[in-house]
Amino acid sequence: MSFKVNQDYLKLPGSYLFSTTGRKIREYAQAHPDQKVIKLSIGDVTQPLAPAIIDALHGAVDEMAAAETFKGYAPDLGYEFLRNAIADNDYKARGCDIAADEIFVSDGAKCDSANIQEIFSKDNKIAVCDPVYPVYVDTNVMAGRTGVYDKIGETWSDVIYMPCTKETGFAPEIPTQTPDIIYLCFPNNPTGATITKDALQEWVDYANKVGAVIIYDAAYEAYISEDNVPHTIYECEGARTCAIELRSFSKNAGFTGVRLGFTVIPKDLKDGDVMLHSLWARRHGTKYNGAPYIIQKAGEAVYSEAGKAQLKEQVAYYMKNASYIYDGLKSAGYSVSGGVNAPYIWLETPKGMGSWEFFDYLLENAQVAGTPGAGFGPSGEGYFRLTAFGSYENTVEAIERIKRM
Ligand SMILES: Cc1ncc(COP(=O)(O)O)c(C=O)c1O
Repeated sequence: MSFKVNQDYLKLPGSYLFSTTGRKIREYAQAHPDQKVIKLSIGDVTQPLAPAIIDALHGAVDEMAAAETFKGYAPDLGYEFLRNAIADNDYKARGCDIAADEIFVSDGAKCDSANIQEIFSKDNKIAVCDPVYPVYVDTNVMAGRTGVYDKIGETWSDVIYMPCTKETGFAPEIPTQTPDIIYLCFPNNPTGATITKDALQEWVDYANKVGAVIIYDAAYEAYISEDNVPHTIYECEGARTCAIELRSFSKNAGFTGVRLGFTVIPKDLKDGDVMLHSLWARRHGTKYNGAPYIIQKAGEAVYSEAGKAQLKEQVAYYMKNASYIYDGLKSAGYSVSGGVNAPYIWLETPKGMGSWEFFDYLLENAQVAGTPGAGFGPSGEGYFRLTAFGSYENTVEAIERIKRM
């Protein structure tokens, strides 16, 4: 045998978090076929696609059936109609200076958040919130950027961790060590916490001062309900020279199975005279052949008047679940946060119970599945995530079961 595997992959500890929770849930369900397990665990939507989106999908499928309107390969950076709709609605309407050609359409934020590290030098140091969406760290591990794993502390020697716990108000603090790449995600998965515009401005000022790049994941932007929470990092002054933004259609429009997202890289973001925009365009052109026309037409419908109205209702449906979970757990004596600008509720596990222990306890005693905080990083220990993406009926039943425990 002469070939060798990528040794960096072998450094990854355990399996992906949701493979482990999924396996445990399946095993429990198999052993207890008479019991109904309610999953408030993985952040997947459950409501059907809105009518405006279904109409757009049907229309685009019909176009594919006629030679005059058939479309082959999509432009690898995205169709103009979608990039214009994004620039107008998500940025210009908010007073942000982002042009359509600074938007790169893709098949979702998971791939983009995973792939974006490729355009940076291998010796760049990343900083992440702890707890964190696992993709940011794992993809840097695969790229050989994270150093040595400490099995006991569950941390990497070359990663800067920014704890986000009750003590920090679930927000990161500027680290003492200077990072090159800072991953921020607001509204946050898993904590459901947000950041004010002033606080985000401090991060932008810091990144510009030290010459770092912020990778800002705004996948949950549609769930923001409070006024002082920024919808995009480009609301902050100076973000064009230090920030990349990631967006998804998964949570605002139910596209988890349809697949669409985008990344924004302003042309002012440079290393010397090299634009990160050019590198990402090169990467996209080489490794990606464009999101399907049919799906991009569905994405365009998200910005139509009918689409906007229908999606506002869909988000409100999930946020009603979020309030139900939040209020129910609070009345049951749990310490809870999140759930106001995000579809995630973050609770403290009962005294003395580890987060995986609480996962088993909840599954066995209430047949409710959530996600252990420790799966998102060491500072997630002692916490637990429930999602608001279930049906209202299941959410109510799950909370009533938890209250009866
Ligand atoms: C923070 C965050 N970013 C990105 C994603 C992935 O989004 P997409 O479905 O667009 O790949 C998720 C999905 O759960 C997420 O929580």
